[in-house]
Amino acid sequence: MSQEKSVSFLKLFGRLFRILWINDKRYTIVSVLLCAAGGFATAANTPVKQYFFEAVENLSSNNHINLVISLGIFWGIFTLITLLIQGMSDLVMEDLGVRLGGFLGRDVNRKAANLAPVCYEDNKILDSMNQAYKGVEQSKEIIQIFMMLAAFYIPYFMFFSVYLYRIHPVLSVGIVLVLLPTLGGQYIRTRYYTGLENRVAPVRRKMEYYQACIADRENGKETRLLGAVFFFRELYKVSALMFQKESWKTERKSSLVELGLRLLSLLVYVMILGLMYQYLIRGNLGIAAFAAILTSIDQMFNYMDYVGYYIGDISTYISAVTNTMAFMELPERKGTSVELSHYDIEFHHVFFFYPGSKKPVLQDVTLSISEGETIAVVGENGAGKSTLAKLLLGLYLPEEGEVLLGGWNTKEISPDSVFQKASGVFQNFQRYKMTLRENISISETDCGQEELKLNQIVKEVNLEEKSEGLPKGIESMLAREFGGSDISGGQWQRVAIGRGLYREHEMIVLDEPTAAIDPLEESRIYLQFASLSKGKTSVIITHRIGSARLADKIIVMDHGTIAGVGSHEELLENNMVYRTMFEAQAQWYQ
Ligand SMILES: Nc1ncnc2c1ncn2[C@@H]1O[C@H](COP(=O)(O)OP(=O)(O)O)[C@@H](O)[C@H]1O
Ligand SMILES: [Mg+2]
Repeated sequence: MSQEKSVSFLKLFGRLFRILWINDKRYTIVSVLLCAAGGFATAANTPVKQYFFEAVENLSSNNHINLVISLGIFWGIFTLITLLIQGMSDLVMEDLGVRLGGFLGRDVNRKAANLAPVCYEDNKILDSMNQAYKGVEQSKEIIQIFMMLAAFYIPYFMFFSVYLYRIHPVLSVGIVLVLLPTLGGQYIRTRYYTGLENRVAPVRRKMEYYQACIADRENGKETRLLGAVFFFRELYKVSALMFQKESWKTERKSSLVELGLRLLSLLVYVMILGLMYQYLIRGNLGIAAFAAILTSIDQMFNYMDYVGYYIGDISTYISAVTNTMAFMELPERKGTSVELSHYDIEFHHVFFFYPGSKKPVLQDVTLSISEGETIAVVGENGAGKSTLAKLLLGLYLPEEGEVLLGGWNTKEISPDSVFQKASGVFQNFQRYKMTLRENISISETDCGQEELKLNQIVKEVNLEEKSEGLPKGIESMLAREFGGSDISGGQWQRVAIGRGLYREHEMIVLDEPTAAIDPLEESRIYLQFASLSKGKTSVIITHRIGSARLADKIIVMDHGTIAGVGSHEELLENNMVYRTMFEAQAQWYQ
């Protein structure tokens, strides 16, 4: 998603500035004022110096030694104050950038959380989210550069130009003449580097990947076992060489251009000096002003370099932050807030497609589940069970047809209303790198009275104290990175189920978190789960018949359609899909 041209720099800055403004008006005003004061004071240093020099110049004729001393002291104090303001404004700029990053990051997080969950299946949106987060990091640079340009350099150059203009108009024209090659040079440099970046980005991604294959915690083990370290090292070497060659080419070209333009600047600089010298000889320019300008001109050229550098640099940041802004424009899932009074679920002729795919994953699905029922959904891998689960929970919305939760259309009510009493445990559940307590109570971490419930659930899912890997009971940290220990896959499954049960719910969906364990163990866990969630609507998803038998009602899925609904016996009797599955799996349960 690159819409680089659609947002102008000023508009982008306006939006970033507004974010700062909304979050802290006073601080924003203070930083702008500080910055501007720095610019004016720095430029004003030259006339102050000039007055001092003039007093010294006139000393021989008028003997005003006191004036010289006072002006000298004033100049000293003024310089000191200027330095202080500059230091303070540097500090504030740095902080402003960090603050903006924080605010913007928060906004992007909120946006990401408010997108429809199905967006996470859309690679384009995932990419855009990635880029949005990169843009957050770079927003700091943009705001700093812009604040410096707008609030420091513009006041500085304005003041300085007026000062020079009043001394001699040609001098202020000279400034522009020096500025042009500097800016041009920076512009060309940036173009070169953007080009380089585009060429080497794929190489860099490969290098990062090869490195991960060698050194990653997960990949590293397998790579070493296979003796493939050398293989990846060679690949890395080739890519690194290519990377270096491309960089060198660009570096060389850009350095040459820069050198040429610098020489041009130098030429103009020498011309200005010559001009000033001539004015001095002719008496158009006093010696004090000459000295004041001469001692300030270096600083001015330095500042011009910075400005050129900033302007050159900013285009890369702009494209990154533009991506962030584009992401912030994505539509959010909204709807009216309602209180669900019951949890009957109905599907009416539901069709569902994944983003970017033309093939429906659910086709004309119609079904109903009453509150309190235990339902099993069975079907081969790829039949559409997990997708059905996500529509049941209201995570995904149907493309055609409707899903009613407690009588409400999931498309019309807010996500919070949809999720208020739902819980779920998914196939690829999260393994939070946190304590067992946090892993289970993450849905409601702040209610102290829930201790009893927590302990009860830990007991029910067999994660009681002193089990292996849980040396500190529920306070055990479940991540080696953070000083804890790893637990086994089976224990993680129990943690995930515990988490699902802990959340206040009227409906819970269990989508094969047990896929990695053997069928008998799965049946055992599902049986236990069914008894724990008695009275609540529970949907158990499995491709194993043995686990389905305990349900009040079994829904058979096949290629995205409902192939049958009934009890185990009824389906065995008259459903081909079910019977075929049953016969194929019979040996698992003997
Ligand atoms: N994110 C996705 N994007 C596109 N197609 C998907 C995605 N997830 C699943 N599918 C497809 O949808 C079909 C049903 O998947 P799923 O609901 O996970 O089945 P099950 O849970 O029964 O194994 C499969 O053909 C799968 O390839
Ligand atoms: Mg599945």
